[in-house]
Amino acid sequence: MHRVYIALAPGDGIGPEIMDASLALFKAAGVGDHAEFVPVDMGKSVFDTGNTKGITDEAVRTVEDCGVLFKGPMETPKGGGGKSINVTLRKLFSTYANFRVFKSLPGVQTVYSKAGIHLDFSIVRENIEDTYGGVEHRLSNDMIQCKRLISAPGCDQVHRFAFQTARQLGLKKVFCGHKANIMKMTDGLFLDRFKFAAKDFPEIETGDVIVDALCMNLVIKPQQYQMIVLPNLQGDIVSDLAAGLVGGLGFAPSANIGKHISIFEAVHGTAPDIAGKGVANPTSLILSGIMMLRHIGLLKHAAVVENALFAALETGLHTGDFGDPSLPGYKKEPATTKQFVQGIIDKLGEKPKTVPATPVPEQSTPTLNHAPRPSSQQVIRTFVNIMSHVAGCDVYLDSPLAPVALAHEMQQAAQDTPFKLTLISNRGTQVWPGGSVYTECVDYYRVRFELKDGILPGSIGQSRAIALLDKIAEKFIVCSYELLRTFDGVRGYSMAQGQ
Ligand code: NAI
Repeated sequence: MHRVYIALAPGDGIGPEIMDASLALFKAAGVGDHAEFVPVDMGKSVFDTGNTKGITDEAVRTVEDCGVLFKGPMETPKGGGGKSINVTLRKLFSTYANFRVFKSLPGVQTVYSKAGIHLDFSIVRENIEDTYGGVEHRLSNDMIQCKRLISAPGCDQVHRFAFQTARQLGLKKVFCGHKANIMKMTDGLFLDRFKFAAKDFPEIETGDVIVDALCMNLVIKPQQYQMIVLPNLQGDIVSDLAAGLVGGLGFAPSANIGKHISIFEAVHGTAPDIAGKGVANPTSLILSGIMMLRHIGLLKHAAVVENALFAALETGLHTGDFGDPSLPGYKKEPATTKQFVQGIIDKLGEKPKTVPATPVPEQSTPTLNHAPRPSSQQVIRTFVNIMSHVAGCDVYLDSPLAPVALAHEMQQAAQDTPFKLTLISNRGTQVWPGGSVYTECVDYYRVRFELKDGILPGSIGQSRAIALLDKIAEKFIVCSYELLRTFDGVRGYSMAQGQ
């Protein structure tokens, strides 16, 4: 029989406790007949050996070979060099879509459950790019930069996943959340690619919503949404807001989906305040595990476990972090993690009565077929055969000069070059030519040069623009530099505020 191998990392803090509980439940549901868990080393124990990545090479290889990782929460070292292993894993294995489901659960009291409003919606968050690229620099004494990277193939992957999932789930409408009114190029691309992907899914309605309005709508009337797809940072914030609507992080499962590798994890952290006490709530990890069972094709097992969980929750079974005293089996004394999971195991084979039961298929067999290992990293592309030309450059300077004096210097530097000074801005606001004397400036100017009248993009190469940089660098502190380019004749750079 085809078996699926799942890399297993219990995690830190409460991780091992909730992982043991989840595995006991899956074992009781017969998951072991089809899947085998392969332990891997990552997290605190690996950081403690001086490995700043938090994962061993052997663990990387095992996850690559399995194609699926089931993980508990992992501690991020405070300060020092160690980056979050949770973020590292998502990026290392290109899990481009973070998929989170927000569902009202029986026994979990919220403002909405008390009002009789049932919630069931999901968020798909781009999981790799955006400011999470972690590309940050100190540019001057006073200025730090974080680069926001949004690529067309990155957008395409996450939007296609969202629409495919919506189709599988029979959803009618998918919204794109964004801030394209302000970040016209980055969020603009995210929104454009959403509209492009939608063309292949004509039966699904689409809508777009600015992220701040989305936050308000989610609080006022969350039941109007079925699925929302968002860029990374906005998706991170909005999905925690959404978790709050259904009872908190302890009830929100999370899947990180990639082309080859997918990671299933609880969204909460290691809960150091209750670690080792045996009282943690394993629901989030169990729900993530249910998503994983569906991902590998064990649809029957997923449905049986889900029904048992809901059936147990509706009796009033609860750990210390939640509970609804109005339920018949509610006990004042909360269950320990072990008692909680035993309560769910006891319900295996039963269906919930107060919420719709998940239909249980006759049987399930693993369908996950892990594609052969590529020989090297793949380059993914959306746009090809685009004609790109140099149209100028933005030179970023650390200078104590006022804008008018700086403009005078820059005009002199541009003499005898194909470029003319067209703009100086500070923190994105135009301060030369024109502007307001009340615009406060910091020690980091953008100086924009564009082709002189009569010189067409394409008639000069980038070396002329770099030669201008060289000339400026003889006299000024250059913080950074960007070439301005046109792409098939369309400007590939934003205008300044007020320009
Ligand atoms: P946290 O989620 O661990 O804890 C916040 C509060 O929620 C605490 O009071 C905790 O007791 C409670 N809580 C969390 N999960 C619970 C559960 N299953 N049952 C009952 N109560 C629960 O967040 P915190 O304290 O900010 O982070 C602790 C560590 O976890 C940090 O090192 C952080 O980097 C890491 N972390 C890891 C994540 C991951 O592995 N995906 C996600 C978030 C944080």
